[in-house]
Amino acid sequence: MLENKFLITTPIYYANGEPHLGHAYTTLIADILSRHYRFLGKDVFFLTGLDEHGAKIEQAAKENHKNPQDFCDEKAEIFQKTWKDFDFQYNNFIRTTQKSHIKATQKFLDFLNKENLIYKNIYKGFYCIACEQLKNEADLIDGLCPDHKTKPILINEESYFFKLSQFQEDLSQIIQNNTIGIFPKAKRNEILEFYKLGLRDISISRKNVKWGIPLPFHKNFTVYVWIDAFLSYLTGIGWDGDANNIPDFWDNVTQIMGKDILRVHGTIWLGLLKALNFSLPKRFFVHGYFTVNGQKMSKTIGNVIAPKDLIENFGSEASRFIMAHSMSYGLDTDISWDRLRSEYNDILVKNLGNLVSRSMKLAEDYYKENAKFEFRNFITEIYDNYNNNLENLKFSESINEILRMINFANRYIDQEKPWSENCLNRKRVISNLLIVLYCVASMLAPFMPKKSKEIFEQLGVDKMNLNTLKEIEKLKFHPKKKQNLFPIIK
Ligand code: MSP
Repeated sequence: MLENKFLITTPIYYANGEPHLGHAYTTLIADILSRHYRFLGKDVFFLTGLDEHGAKIEQAAKENHKNPQDFCDEKAEIFQKTWKDFDFQYNNFIRTTQKSHIKATQKFLDFLNKENLIYKNIYKGFYCIACEQLKNEADLIDGLCPDHKTKPILINEESYFFKLSQFQEDLSQIIQNNTIGIFPKAKRNEILEFYKLGLRDISISRKNVKWGIPLPFHKNFTVYVWIDAFLSYLTGIGWDGDANNIPDFWDNVTQIMGKDILRVHGTIWLGLLKALNFSLPKRFFVHGYFTVNGQKMSKTIGNVIAPKDLIENFGSEASRFIMAHSMSYGLDTDISWDRLRSEYNDILVKNLGNLVSRSMKLAEDYYKENAKFEFRNFITEIYDNYNNNLENLKFSESINEILRMINFANRYIDQEKPWSENCLNRKRVISNLLIVLYCVASMLAPFMPKKSKEIFEQLGVDKMNLNTLKEIEKLKFHPKKKQNLFPIIK
């Protein structure tokens, strides 16, 4: 992509509980991508936030004997604290209870009304509060929501509907010809299949949910929480609800989400943008779930791995790496403490940590100046693959390229034995090693920004700059070994 401005969004997470590992993963990959583009000199806006309205939040607040706003305030603090612990550098944390968001949402609903894009009818069907979505009977398994294993409630009430069906042709064409890229490809096909069933108009108001934004033209109704939530992608970058004001950053948008919410994004959200006549996002990136022993993480089953547990065990930098490396592209990925621990010990401690500590030891003892760098072709190939993978949101594959380089360097040390009296190329070997380490640290930067900085500090050079690869031998190292990057854990 050649564009200079990038908007990268995560879904806004429901404020009904504490952050989940899945929330952390989505936000992490948005952070990695943002850091990558910032490094390439792009102007990046990284948006995340909280979804604070609707029956689900109202219910959770009630169960906790809190008023909904206080309840959301508490959760917002916990989410932001956790994201800070992970060092996520977002540009805005939008909350849907903010006044500016409420005002813009109401203005937008007035707009839909004036454009004759809504009408009143009866809203009837099975509604899953946990999904905040109406379910077709065909979606239910033994009468239960397949995701939440709970019984949906029957709704039969007056409601306003958005004329989504009128965008059916247009949108399916747009998805068909990849004007909006949906990745992985299988997910694009899944949405196209859904379009074949035909888009139905959708309810955009709720009569019996008090915790929501009142409809500006009928105060007895509140806005359906998904409409409210989608608009946060625009209000989060400063939109005031006016269809004539396209916000800055809205021309090059990458939206990251889990597989559970692709369908609503690929239909309702795109329909709302069409109604506004705004351009559509450039790409949706859809990732799978983290599961434990094949099961979705759930409080009831008691198999939840919380982001704070990860940080407690591995520290935030290693947790970032482990999450990014563990998840397979577009698929569900099973994790367990054993697997997480072996990622940490086998990759971070043994491969990366050892490489840094043995290279720095050798460098302290023997480094004087650089020799001609021998692995330029190899490193260029690795860089190209790494960049390509990141560009295509293949985070784990991107890390694999770094690991190829780390493994190569460890083998190189074993073969050359630069500590031995018999090593005739010591100067060249150590210079090669430090340059390789410099490249490793550069590529690790979006994944583990602090550890990458620590490696640069040990090397005694500034962080990567884009021109260095061309003149890499000119770098001047001032090696200083510090403590091991990753302590061993049992
Ligand atoms: N509030 C809506 C989104 C509105 S966006 C306009 C919502 N919130 S959520 O709290 O349920 O978050 C869902 C998102 O969390 C998923 O799309 C995914 O990004 C992430 N994950 C939740 N559980 C997950 C896993 N077990 N594994 C990986 N990510 C998953 O839906």
